[in-house]
Amino acid sequence: MRLDRCTWYEVQDYLAGSGGIMLPCGSTEQHGPIGLIGTDAICAETIAARAAETVAALVAPTLAYTPAPFNMGFPGTMSISAGLFQSMVQELLAGLHEQGFTRIYILNGHGANLDPLNAASAHLPGGSVRIRSWWDFDAVNALRSEFYGAWEGMHATPSEVAITRADGRVIHHPDADAPPRRLTAEFIRQHAGDRHGGPQEHRAAFPDGRVGSHSALATPEHGRRLLEAAATAVAEDYRAFTGR
Ligand code: NI
Repeated sequence: MRLDRCTWYEVQDYLAGSGGIMLPCGSTEQHGPIGLIGTDAICAETIAARAAETVAALVAPTLAYTPAPFNMGFPGTMSISAGLFQSMVQELLAGLHEQGFTRIYILNGHGANLDPLNAASAHLPGGSVRIRSWWDFDAVNALRSEFYGAWEGMHATPSEVAITRADGRVIHHPDADAPPRRLTAEFIRQHAGDRHGGPQEHRAAFPDGRVGSHSALATPEHGRRLLEAAATAVAEDYRAFTGR
């Protein structure tokens, strides 16, 4: 159930039976030659919507304007500062909590969101916010490594591209046919959580936008399996979190 498609009367009735809500969180940034700008937001939103069906959860509108400063050298990326994002989330969480949403489940699809999300949620009573990225779950990771191995990489990953393809556009471009430059283990360690350099430096290092990810390996069938695995895991985790 989408919050934005409900009336406030319906939300009030829902709150009589549950204090749980899902909040998908993504980004608006380049995802290489064949990945959509909205990839992170689409993944979080689609998985949350699917999971919510099985646990009858309300899903808040997706937060899609988030920090992605390193990708500002690529047209179409829209980024806000981590501080602004944190303040916005903090106010939104406080408002929801005040209204009776005492179990707020944030489903994340963008690494750079994690630090500000954690900082923002620290202002609410312990146990009222749970933050999970859709790739946190074992069943999802088993598929990611089965399908792509090391070619999953770090950005414009075939798994996220596949999820957008489960039910959406499949784009081809010759620039994505060849595998990207392979990342070293040290690079991956140093850049976890999207800790990349400035926009010009980042674009110079990764001219087509992929960061170690061979996006072209993504198929709609992979996407459907990843979506199913992620939605099942999220639904189970949400149930445990809300105690329903
Ligand atoms: Ni992404």
